[in-house]
Amino acid sequence: MKGNLTLDAHATVGKVDPRLSGSFIEHVGRAVYHGIYQPDHPSADADGFRQDVIDLVKHLQVPIIRYPGGNFVSGFNWEDSVGPKDQRPRRLDLAWRSVETNQFGLHEFEAWAKKVNADTMMAVNLGTRGIDAARNLIEYTNFPRGTYYSDLRRQNGADQPFNIKTWCLGNEMDGPWQIGHKDATDYGKLANETSKALKWVDSSIETVACGSSALDMPTFGQWENTVLNIAYDNVDYLSLHRYYGNRDDDTPNYLAQNLDFDDFISGVVAMCDAIKARRHNKKQINLSMDEWNVWYHSNQQDDETAPWQEHPHLLEDIYNFEDAILVGSLLITLLKHADRVKIACLAQLVNVIAPIMTDDNGKAWAQSIFYPFMQASTMGRGTVLTPNTSAETYSTKEFHTVSYLDSIGVLNDAGNQVTVFAVNKSLDTPMQLHVDAGTFDFKQVTGATQFAGYAPKQTAQDAAMHIAPNTKYTLDATGLTIELPPLSWNTVQIAV
Ligand code: AHR
Repeated sequence: MKGNLTLDAHATVGKVDPRLSGSFIEHVGRAVYHGIYQPDHPSADADGFRQDVIDLVKHLQVPIIRYPGGNFVSGFNWEDSVGPKDQRPRRLDLAWRSVETNQFGLHEFEAWAKKVNADTMMAVNLGTRGIDAARNLIEYTNFPRGTYYSDLRRQNGADQPFNIKTWCLGNEMDGPWQIGHKDATDYGKLANETSKALKWVDSSIETVACGSSALDMPTFGQWENTVLNIAYDNVDYLSLHRYYGNRDDDTPNYLAQNLDFDDFISGVVAMCDAIKARRHNKKQINLSMDEWNVWYHSNQQDDETAPWQEHPHLLEDIYNFEDAILVGSLLITLLKHADRVKIACLAQLVNVIAPIMTDDNGKAWAQSIFYPFMQASTMGRGTVLTPNTSAETYSTKEFHTVSYLDSIGVLNDAGNQVTVFAVNKSLDTPMQLHVDAGTFDFKQVTGATQFAGYAPKQTAQDAAMHIAPNTKYTLDATGLTIELPPLSWNTVQIAV
């Protein structure tokens, strides 16, 4: 099978915002406790943070991490999580029907995020709480000193403000499962007023209003329209959330879900721009895909989990190889929309629908999805080149025309290297991908890798998976030709 990607230095999508490689830590299951924080673990540092997990997180180079939820945040009192640990209350977390001990809180998260070189994307509770708690929180985190909450922060050990720059105005407020769920008008007003108050405390921040929590929400479209009509002038981003699963074991259809992801993004961009046009507004609203991933393997087990435990095993999807290939295609889709999607958070980071797991024997390990995410994060920085691709197509029960090839190129900031990412979706046929140099002068291949050779259902739980070098390429005056194995995620780096 043949595929083609033509590059053109003058046709670009836009610059990649590094926050496209963000992730997410929520107080749910074992993400925090027995995930990133476990004082009695042999690798724990003086703060109780697991060094083995920190090392794996650092491989992913996540520049921003959303915290502390998720559904959790809609019932969370941030004040419970600061101050002396022995005085912090144990609370019922209604979102996940668990017990929250608050032994890991705001200061601990800030210290941990610093160790993994990530900024915080802070979510405020617009479920059970509102403007007052949010403005107090930002006074606590961002105001230097000399007021009640800023001095409380200093008293609690942080003399310098945390200076958190990206703020989520609640979480999935369109969902009936959300504590304090609201209709679009009520949410729009609350988000608008909360954003104003947050920015009055610190005008340098940016805020994210909740969009739809899935493309198939019955309120999709209406919700975006109503919320943005109310809050357009005072918010900076609109959020999208999207999870996928191969529930009926139809792999070709599953691997085509990036088309749904693409439609979702394009649809929300169109809605933002329609409102912009109608209002004759110069300001553009960009997107924050602040939860995305595969999520379905653990659903049944979660239904059977007894409630009101501390850090129960919840949402512990064990990912297989086909999941990693879909994640690769979703990453390419995000890059394709780098002009409008400025923030994206792989949900989540550790133990909970995560690329990194810890097991009950104390071992930390990388899941299959770790590998494409790591490569897109570390190599996909710079300017995205307009993806001009062609390849054979197939159809599935949900999609009429699915290309076997997903591919995109990113030019680094120095302008001397193009990285090509490519997925071959065929389950049995290799693809000869020709990367047409277009206006570039391809000097040499500086690296080529493949993530391939695993059965679709193979996981990394028992034996680690590996990215291997790909040597099956040739370079000539017209460009590069490289063989992409069946069912594979691939990268090529070319000096230009
Ligand atoms: O990431 C898991 C959950 O998915 C989040 O808490 C919620 O926002 C979404 O429904």
